[in-house]
Amino acid sequence: MLAEKILTTEQQELIAGLTAENKYINPKYFYDKKGSELFEEITQLDEYYPTRTERSILTQYANEISDYVPKGSVIVEPGAGACEKIQLILEAVHPKAYLPQDVSRRFLQQAAGRLKDKFKWLEIEPIVSDFSKPLVIPQRYQADDLYVFYPGSTVGNFEPENAKTFLSNMRKLVGDSGGMLIGMDLQKESSVIESAYNDAKGVTAEFNLNMLNNVNRHLDSKLDLQKFSHKAFYNNELNRIEMHLISNEDQRYELLNNELHFAQGETIHTENSYKFSLDCIEHLAENTGFKRVKTWMDKDELFSLNFFQSA
Ligand code: AVJ
Repeated sequence: MLAEKILTTEQQELIAGLTAENKYINPKYFYDKKGSELFEEITQLDEYYPTRTERSILTQYANEISDYVPKGSVIVEPGAGACEKIQLILEAVHPKAYLPQDVSRRFLQQAAGRLKDKFKWLEIEPIVSDFSKPLVIPQRYQADDLYVFYPGSTVGNFEPENAKTFLSNMRKLVGDSGGMLIGMDLQKESSVIESAYNDAKGVTAEFNLNMLNNVNRHLDSKLDLQKFSHKAFYNNELNRIEMHLISNEDQRYELLNNELHFAQGETIHTENSYKFSLDCIEHLAENTGFKRVKTWMDKDELFSLNFFQSA
């Protein structure tokens, strides 16, 4: 009898996506060490407006934001990473505590340490957990005024149904008197968006292709990066940027006992990044137990920062 190989959750998930009728890989597989560095590089590109625009909104309106997120409250940040953006509003908003959540303990503790040096008055309580489990706030903060900080238009990576589920969960987390400060990229002329995901230096292409290195590591496979190309385009019907890896030729691989075939021109769908109108932001809030009470934008209306109050 052949011994069945026991597959990790990641391996099962990757194989399911790569053997599906329309091949796909979850965008979380972008972010290995190299991928996180490449994303950092993307945020500094001329064409990639979201990061710099959101930072300027946070800086410019920090004082106004403190009218909505009151002094002495507790701020929770899902997927906080390097805890960079929160620093732009900490002095003005002056919360009692900041609770950054992320998957990597070491990374989070380093970020929290750096933050503590700069903001000595702030309680910092890192929460190490992954996305498969609900976010849990330490008991001693549960009676406080809770606010979720969710910048970066990360919510745009969710399918609309999953975005609703995520926001409903955040609504439960903050309770009846809390709120949420959430960054969302706006719908605009599609050429502007398409340039942001097809930069002249090719960093986004490298970021997209690097996902295959991460897949190879997980599956012990040999997908050949040379035989795929980056493709990103705006889908007007669905209001989203789609990123794909397109197979340059007919190719076959063996993936942990699974046959994998790519026809020439066949694609792997690697990411959706939804873009929002003020109307859909309003509806999303309403459908998840919030009310959108304030939106800040840059003068060109490229990006929005929204305050959702529990309703
Ligand atoms: C991190 C999901 C907000 O969608 O703009 C950047 C990721 N992908 N360039 C985005 C990304 C390609 C980014 N988010």
